[in-house]
Amino acid sequence: MKATARAHTNIALIKYWGKRDESLFLPMNNSLSITLDKFHTTTAVEFCPCLPVDLFIMNNQLASSTEMARITHFLDRVRGMSGKSWHAVVHSTNNFPTAAGFASSASGYAALAAASTKAIGLDLGNKALSQLARLGSGSACRSIYGGYVEWQKGEKNDGTDSFAKPVLEGGDWDLSIVSVLVTDTPKTVSSREGMKRTVETSPFYSGWLDSVEADFLHAKEALIHHDFELLGSIIESNALKMHATTLGANPPFMYWNSATLDVIKEVQSLRSGGIQAYFTIDAGPNVKVLCQPKDEQAVRESLEKLPNVQNTYLCHPGPGLTYL
Ligand code: PMV
Repeated sequence: MKATARAHTNIALIKYWGKRDESLFLPMNNSLSITLDKFHTTTAVEFCPCLPVDLFIMNNQLASSTEMARITHFLDRVRGMSGKSWHAVVHSTNNFPTAAGFASSASGYAALAAASTKAIGLDLGNKALSQLARLGSGSACRSIYGGYVEWQKGEKNDGTDSFAKPVLEGGDWDLSIVSVLVTDTPKTVSSREGMKRTVETSPFYSGWLDSVEADFLHAKEALIHHDFELLGSIIESNALKMHATTLGANPPFMYWNSATLDVIKEVQSLRSGGIQAYFTIDAGPNVKVLCQPKDEQAVRESLEKLPNVQNTYLCHPGPGLTYL
């Protein structure tokens, strides 16, 4: 009863920001992402009647009790689906530093959904795996697929129409993503808490909802027509709108630090110099810069020169789920 799966992280081009159902992880809006080639989580799950509890080992270390409880909660769903009650030992490894500011929950829950269901003897297709991964971390539902992916929010209360699906294969349009690390300090407001607080208290949240569906449709069109300038301008303004909602929350919060702003300004100055580059920022201070492969070295070099940039990682669209 053992299986191993690998899933890659994704970055949001149009953000998932806000839930309409907290326990089923149902989003308020559609979102769009790129799965990255460089960063992935590999997870092995073994169920055994000999185990009295679940065990979660993350990067060769026993996980904290909070992380353990989240994994057990997730595995309870898998046990419920299979009708078996065995506990499991879960070994998960990220090929990137977990504290390096890259979303590991997306690749983590996508890999866990795949490995745990296979290990327990369920044979789920990608749609069902996407729905299951969503219940660990919303954005994980998009990491089932490679390339460019949409998460359709769905309308139903039971979540059966809320899952991800591919929009374009990575090979259909090669874009470059420079991931810019400005800090590896863990954020003080998690994405889960941040979006909840924003939905409940920010007067700017209604502005987000008013415009995000148009952003989603235009960004998807831009993807399909390979219109880089249009795609870039939409994803940048969508990211800014998401972060603006946090400033209106009560208590207010902000994911950026001063180095985040330095990167934003550098991207703007690259553009005035004729290089098409656009930024996006998820729930944290690190920045992802989109550009075309012909400009990737120039973009990377200019960002690396900034004094508060700790590291940059050059990524391209990556693959979906694999079993090892
Ligand atoms: O799935 P979570 O809880 O990690 O939330 C992700 C939130 C954002 O990264 C800000 C947006 C997104 O669509 O990934």
